[in-house]
Amino acid sequence: MDRLAVDGGEPVRRGALTPRQPFPPDAVRLATEAIQSGSLFGVGGPLTRRFESEFAAYYGARHAVTVSSGTAAIHTALAAANPEPGAEVITAPITDAGSVLPILYQGCVPVFADVADHLGMAVEAVEACVTPRTAAIIAVHPFGGATDVRALRDLADRHGITLIEDCSQAHGTRFHGEFLGRYGHIGVYSLQQSKHMTAGEGGVCVTDDDELAARMRLFSDKGWDRAGAGARGYPRLGLNYRASELVAAVTLPQLSTLDAVLAGRRRLAALLDVAVDKAPGVTRWQPLTGCDASYWCYPFFVPGDVTRWADALAAEGVPTTPGYIGKPIYECMAALADAYPPGLCPRATDALTRLMIFWLHENLTEDEIADVGAAIIKVANALVD
Ligand SMILES: Cc1ncc(COP(=O)(O)O)c(C=O)c1O
Repeated sequence: MDRLAVDGGEPVRRGALTPRQPFPPDAVRLATEAIQSGSLFGVGGPLTRRFESEFAAYYGARHAVTVSSGTAAIHTALAAANPEPGAEVITAPITDAGSVLPILYQGCVPVFADVADHLGMAVEAVEACVTPRTAAIIAVHPFGGATDVRALRDLADRHGITLIEDCSQAHGTRFHGEFLGRYGHIGVYSLQQSKHMTAGEGGVCVTDDDELAARMRLFSDKGWDRAGAGARGYPRLGLNYRASELVAAVTLPQLSTLDAVLAGRRRLAALLDVAVDKAPGVTRWQPLTGCDASYWCYPFFVPGDVTRWADALAAEGVPTTPGYIGKPIYECMAALADAYPPGLCPRATDALTRLMIFWLHENLTEDEIADVGAAIIKVANALVD
């Protein structure tokens, strides 16, 4: 058996993997034009208006509202749902803090529903969390895969609650033929650097509902009713979550490259699947049936200590993130320490102790993916009995 590089053996590969370049040449042109125009103010700006209309068209939505981050998008969506203070909002334990912070800042109580094998919330777990105080569900679509939002929309409608889809990691993912973000009352997308489409920071909310769209525009613009007659009026509370024209400038051209980004990631993920299937003890992450995953990253499960795996893979030339967030999000956030009992979401806790993330992206070459696969097989042969 080959000696692991971490033990002094020859590494599978040397040198860094190809970095990602998400910005097409037109992003530079549009950003330059925006700067040369002398105005980068986003509200009503020509690029923001064009971006919103093309983003909405891509997803087949009536409205798209651009904001300053994915967290801001979730907050904007939740505020538009207008929950009473103290209302409960159900969300996932495997996610970014950005899915949870808006619930707290909206004066609501996060309730965590445990995950299914695909690492999104299990529908039965969500159902068990519903109470008369439930105002909304924030369904997080993990890693470019889907949570079962068909069933969750049905559940939400039965209980008269709002379904918000957190598609931060799932741009362009289709589920039973329809885009994620289109099953809920509102879909939200982060444009943070690691996402399929990015402006470094930014976010977008989509909806078909005119009233929700109007509330989202108000909320993200300090509650300022710009269309109102006469003196300045703030009919509702809001925050300044506005995005500048630069967000639209660099993201707009990525609407034209998104399909190629998705196709590239799916092709490389399929190649890596073949290698992972040959690695003893290693199992693939399986997206929910009916979902054409967009691979925000490439998750896989390993037996044993994930840190040891990450160290061994790094020495072979393959960087990974062991455990993703390591433990359920409520255990990661000091503000929520002791608020939730240990063992609340046992499946999430267990999955995170076995989960490895490889940051797959469309600019990697097939040779690099072959090296990644070879490294996983080599480490598995050494670490798994
Ligand atoms: C699932 C999920 N929700 C919410 C967010 C928050 O997005 P942002 O970092 O743009 O505020 C992220 C991104 O980090 C995310 O991955």
